[in-house]
Amino acid sequence: MFSVLLTLISLIMQTDYKLISHILDKKNIGSNLEIRGWLKTKRDSKGISFLNINDGSCLAGIQVIADSIVLNNYQSLRADLTTGCSLRVLGRLVKSPAKGQEVELKAEEITIYGPAPATDYPLQKKRHSFEFLRSISHLRPRTNTLSAMTRIRSRLAQSIHDFFRNHDFYQIHTPVITTSDCEGAGEMFTVTSLDLSKPDGEHNPLDYSHDFFGCPASLTVSGQLEAEAYALALGRVYTFGPTFRAENSHTSRHLAEFWMVEPEMSFFDLDNDMDLAENLIKFLVKAVFEQCREDLDFFCRFIDKSLRKKLNAVLKNDFTRISYGEAVNLLLKSRRNFAYPVAWGIDLQAEHERFLAEEYFKGPVIVFAYPKSIKPFYMRLNDDNKTVAAMDVLLPGIGEIIGGSQREERLEQLTARMAECAINTADYEWYLDLRRYGTVPHAGFGLGFERLIQFVTGLTNIRDVIPFPRTPGRAEISSGKAEG
Ligand code: 4AD
Ligand code: MG
Repeated sequence: MFSVLLTLISLIMQTDYKLISHILDKKNIGSNLEIRGWLKTKRDSKGISFLNINDGSCLAGIQVIADSIVLNNYQSLRADLTTGCSLRVLGRLVKSPAKGQEVELKAEEITIYGPAPATDYPLQKKRHSFEFLRSISHLRPRTNTLSAMTRIRSRLAQSIHDFFRNHDFYQIHTPVITTSDCEGAGEMFTVTSLDLSKPDGEHNPLDYSHDFFGCPASLTVSGQLEAEAYALALGRVYTFGPTFRAENSHTSRHLAEFWMVEPEMSFFDLDNDMDLAENLIKFLVKAVFEQCREDLDFFCRFIDKSLRKKLNAVLKNDFTRISYGEAVNLLLKSRRNFAYPVAWGIDLQAEHERFLAEEYFKGPVIVFAYPKSIKPFYMRLNDDNKTVAAMDVLLPGIGEIIGGSQREERLEQLTARMAECAINTADYEWYLDLRRYGTVPHAGFGLGFERLIQFVTGLTNIRDVIPFPRTPGRAEISSGKAEG
């Protein structure tokens, strides 16, 4: 009895369940291990099956060698061992005689958790188009591209917190539901608990006094205004969360729900703001090189062959800084036939931004001092009375990744500007209080997190850098069966 118990205990002790990323090292050779994951591929040869198993912890996965003795142990195993099934393998880690991996797992026992019938499973081993994968957004994280993107996304989210912690910032959780339209563009999603199926009844949806908050409320387009309140108390703060825009843009750089990183700093001017933006981008690119090597290699090989060069250029060079006026002159001098004609006063379009970053400067560019007419009410008016202390960071292949400004800290100028923009100051009394009581020069910016992930992965469509993209006409998760 005692010896049986001892054998059992020693078996349990010997066979450790490990993540695959933790065992792909020669030093583990000879260990008895257990892995759990999903079968990516199976190749049979002379009574032996070679299984590639991945548990998501890294890109490579592990090769498992299963001989006929192991496979014959379980009646249903051979039939169920198909791409996509979930399984558990116990075995011994051995040196791999084959090229491409240092170690492999010689299976001693295989158990299937759940089969994935080959007749049905949409992710068979072949290259699928990004478009098709978007139609099965619940299964696409099992592909190499989406899992690599997701690991990089997660690491970078962490690095954002590291950066701000290193620079003495506090994180503020700004509200998702708000009554302020920060950008003034009217692109807000309404939040209501009124029964919209009864528009004429007791709960008329236009009568917000009956609504949950007793007034119109929306999903936030930016946490900036609320962050400003905390910057004027804690000095340096940032918010990092989802933001929502009901703009009908069907482009490869716009989402209806996206994540934004928004630092806000008291006693910063526009130059300090631009310095921080440049340092943040460099820090995040460096983090990808240092912490996401395997996944970055994948993107450099399969998605964008010039990616490494592009990222290195960001680290090595200072970002070019030019005024909006200079940018417009360069665009005019280029003699390009832009779809949107260039003139002082226009909002720069993607084609203009990309010309500057990709073709002219071949690297990141910060454009500052934009005409006030194309920027929101909160930006600080310059002495020329025509431009504001705004700045946009433009990246090659992406265009605008950051939009920011020094804020108008002077009450009189701010209220005048709000009047010009036809903004009802009564709705922003709290914001004006920040200028009435202890106002200080301050600045901040917003970095589009998905555009950053696009930049560091080379993925050209923003729908492929967020788990479940929301775009006009698309919020549901489909099974893909109809479209597949
Ligand atoms: O330039 P934006 O609109 O700036 C603001 O919202 C400011 N309140 C930020 C601040 O100063 N705290 O947006 C900032 C960034 C853009 O540069 C872009 O990278 C991203 O957010 N962005 C979007 N990303 C994906 N989909 C959209 N629809 C986006 N709109 C803006
Ligand atoms: Mg902008």
